[in-house]
Amino acid sequence: MSSRIPQSFIDEVVTRTDIVELIDNHVPLKKKGKEFAACCPFHNEKTASFTVSAEKQFYHCFGCGAHGTALGFLMEYERLDFIEAVEVLAQQHGLEIPKDDSTFIRNDHQDLYGLLEQANTYFQQNLRQQKHAVDYLKNRGVSGEIAAKYDLGFAADGFDNFLKQFNPLATEEKLIEIGLVKKNDKGNLYDRFRNRIVFPIKDRRGRVIGFGGRVLDDAVPKYLNSPETPVFHKSDALYGLYEARKSKLSSKSLIVVEGYMDVVALAQHGIDNVVATLGTATTSQHIQQLYRCTQEIIFCFDGDRAGREAAWRAAQQTIPLFKDGLEAKFLFLPQGEDPDSLIRTRGKEIFLQYVNDGDSISNFIFSKLSEDIDTRTPSGKARLAQISKPLLEKFPNGVFKKLIFEELEKKVGLPISYTANPDKLKKSNAATNNKATPVRLAVAALLHQPSLSLDIESLSLLERCQLPGVPLLTKIIRIWKSEPELSHAALIERFRDQPEEQQIQKLMSWSPPELIEPEKALKDALTWIERKTQSSRVQELIDKESTAGLTEDERQELNQLLRQKAP
Ligand code: UTP
Ligand code: MN
Repeated sequence: MSSRIPQSFIDEVVTRTDIVELIDNHVPLKKKGKEFAACCPFHNEKTASFTVSAEKQFYHCFGCGAHGTALGFLMEYERLDFIEAVEVLAQQHGLEIPKDDSTFIRNDHQDLYGLLEQANTYFQQNLRQQKHAVDYLKNRGVSGEIAAKYDLGFAADGFDNFLKQFNPLATEEKLIEIGLVKKNDKGNLYDRFRNRIVFPIKDRRGRVIGFGGRVLDDAVPKYLNSPETPVFHKSDALYGLYEARKSKLSSKSLIVVEGYMDVVALAQHGIDNVVATLGTATTSQHIQQLYRCTQEIIFCFDGDRAGREAAWRAAQQTIPLFKDGLEAKFLFLPQGEDPDSLIRTRGKEIFLQYVNDGDSISNFIFSKLSEDIDTRTPSGKARLAQISKPLLEKFPNGVFKKLIFEELEKKVGLPISYTANPDKLKKSNAATNNKATPVRLAVAALLHQPSLSLDIESLSLLERCQLPGVPLLTKIIRIWKSEPELSHAALIERFRDQPEEQQIQKLMSWSPPELIEPEKALKDALTWIERKTQSSRVQELIDKESTAGLTEDERQELNQLLRQKAP
């Protein structure tokens, strides 16, 4: 994905950005020696182990191991994807992302998106012409303004209005492919949505990917959705997400409800950070997407048995994704009410009261797990420990996991063992415990003092060498030799999504004692690599000599190598 934005453009935005200024706007930094420091925004701490290097344009936390460039920071801190992070920086510098050669759209279902957008416009125009459809929405309390905000439309009654309108614009296959036209047993084509209010479903970027349609009366089925298409996947679509992200509240919390009309009705009452699943259970993909946009997910379910079961499923999907700093809440509405009916009959304040009174994830989990257990008895406590532990183990390692296990221990009255090393701590140990191999030292030395690249005259030895880490070393030298002005951060961005990405980021913040003399570290490493390469070549030639035999050139090479090797 990232490779679709021209690398030169990524270089440009990264080079123009000052990571110190960028991070300082989110997390106030204090000067500390050559670097800047703050309490880490990615884990809980009291002493500042989060450092930002102006020179390397790189941040690193010695506490939790978080690290990255300006783009990486935006992705982590603002939960943006790569393209969005580039967009943010580009915008700050007044740059336009080059749009040539249909650059950064991953797969070019351009034709399908275009058609879906045209269909969307068509349905909206239809709605204006059909008084009974407008009346239906008005009766349900939906204003023209909100209908416009959600692009609500109408699919007229009849067999093939849509088809007739669109057949000249697109082939039948395309209309079937986007799910708006179906073929019956007799082979006749007809409209999927007929005499229905139409709700366009958009992706996060606002592209229409499918539709939902509701009848105006008691006909069944009450709702129809687009079928699975190349661009529409029900299990990860979220109705209203695009609109919700425009809400000021959305980065703090997003409310998840069950129905299209719930989203629309809540928006009508000024609660616009709301999304709906499309009649499916909440999936892990839903939750991942939501946590990329917000800190807190507020799940809103019916108070009945089915609602509680759906909530439990959602909680189970949430647990493995529940990193420190995130929140989740579970709220249950009174029997027979949905958000639409509740807010219309009892108003915004009452609805917000329900939101406020929702269960935290830990309360919800423990109340669910202790449902059929008498937790006052020893056997009940044992049972609670037994069923809780495997579930709670699934939380990502970190502070929250510790706390929820503490809560369990309190309930049970005994210590309970579990894996608790924060993931990131492990990573950071790995980073600081990088074994000081010559190749790693060489890479670290270069990252420490990029100008050393210029001293290396020939890459031919390195290019022939397959030792682990050497290809990375070679790439770095090659890049910096040809572009000595390239910043560290821009260099690191060259490795995004490459196999070496992790390795280079780790080495970036590694400072073994050998780096006091980077030049020597690099020289020693190059000597070591040369020896290693030669001795494996010698071995290769000796092996060949005793099997297939050597050519005259090879024999000379071997002799020469053996002479060099001699002390
Ligand atoms: P509900 O039956 O709870 O309907 O379906 P609702 O949202 O309250 O609808 P209104 O208020 O009667 O208009 C919740 C969601 O389940 C899916 C739809 O996504 C709907 O929004 N659903 C429901 C279907 O896909 N098909 C159906 O026949 C019914
Ligand atoms: Mn409803």
